Amino acid sequence: MEVVVRGLLHPESRRCLAAFRALVARVAEMSSAALAPDQVWRLLLALRRHVRESAELPQGLGLSLDPDGQPVVTRAADPLALVGAASDGAWFARSPVSAAGAELLDLYLPMAFASPARPLTVAHLGQSLDGRIATVQGASRYVNGPENLLHLHRMRALCDAVVVGAGTVECDDPRLTTRQVAGPNPVRVVLDPRRRLAAGCGVFQDRAAPTWLICDQGLAERQGPGCARVIGAPCDAGVFDLAAVLAQLRARGCAGVFVEGGGLTVSAFLEQKRLDRLQITIAPLIIGSGRPGITLPPVRDLDQGLRPRCRRYVLGEDVLFECRLGD
Ligand SMILES: NC(=O)c1ccc[n+]([C@@H]2O[C@H](COP(=O)([O-])OP(=O)(O)OC[C@H]3O[C@@H](n4cnc5c(N)ncnc54)[C@H](OP(=O)(O)O)[C@@H]3O)[C@@H](O)[C@H]2O)c1
Repeated sequence: MEVVVRGLLHPESRRCLAAFRALVARVAEMSSAALAPDQVWRLLLALRRHVRESAELPQGLGLSLDPDGQPVVTRAADPLALVGAASDGAWFARSPVSAAGAELLDLYLPMAFASPARPLTVAHLGQSLDGRIATVQGASRYVNGPENLLHLHRMRALCDAVVVGAGTVECDDPRLTTRQVAGPNPVRVVLDPRRRLAAGCGVFQDRAAPTWLICDQGLAERQGPGCARVIGAPCDAGVFDLAAVLAQLRARGCAGVFVEGGGLTVSAFLEQKRLDRLQITIAPLIIGSGRPGITLPPVRDLDQGLRPRCRRYVLGEDVLFECRLGD
């Protein structure tokens, strides 16, 4: 855009005009260069923040960068918005977006948009070609490559709560934080119906982020372990009602939930039809034995299996399948 002015100007107006010209030049420069992945990531974090802080949300929002390169959330119809994003994950760009940046928008917009009005539950498992998530002894570091680890940290940064089963805490003693990316740590939620986990587990002790332990409601009176907050949920024959568990999380402000494993936990969410999306990252690895990924009750015919719509993303040597289950 060319700024043309005719006639003599007051010195103060001249200074304002120079600043305006610099701003126009910066916006033109930014809208002609392809949006890089780190810029898209900053836009996604700004969107997440905006969505979580807003009482009412439109179906779509605009994302832009100010002249200093800082992310700005605006109206979808704003002509200066570089990207228009819809709550269902659809998006369009008014300026070029790098291929890697476009993949980030495809994969992460829905979680950035999670809100009380549009809650989202996504699960992930990383598995070998033969469908194992760990060895028989429970070693799972690392089935997948570093690109998938980065993906997990990005999902943690965009969700409100990361959920794992007691088996994962027992085997991995995971930290469940966002060490590899800029972005907040989620609340860490451990499903431990019988309260069998030791108080010494890292998530109960390290105070890196809030930790909530979900147990059978009959065992919720007892304090601890460590600094965890205990929340009781209905449990029948050792199996949680996961609709009730999600309701507990949402009542405490967690609209975006990321179920990070292990296999029994993700399978239970799938069986109880509580997932909007399921991500499975497959590594070119054959273990030949070990802990299974998804296990569901047997079906007689193949047409009784699930055949969700899927998108594929290449993550280094691995391939991530994202399955849409909720729509
Ligand atoms: N590759 C990956 O993506 C990945 C991710 C995470 C973990 N892992 C690996 O997977 C292994 C652990 O997975 P896992 O499948 O054995 O166990 P898990 O899913 O981590 O934990 C299962 C346990 O959590 C509790 N639980 C989970 N969902 C429940 C529900 N709906 N109702 C009641 N209780 C529920 C139960 O505790 P109780 O046993 O007390 O009843 C259950 O046995 C470890 O070896 C870990 O390293 C791999």
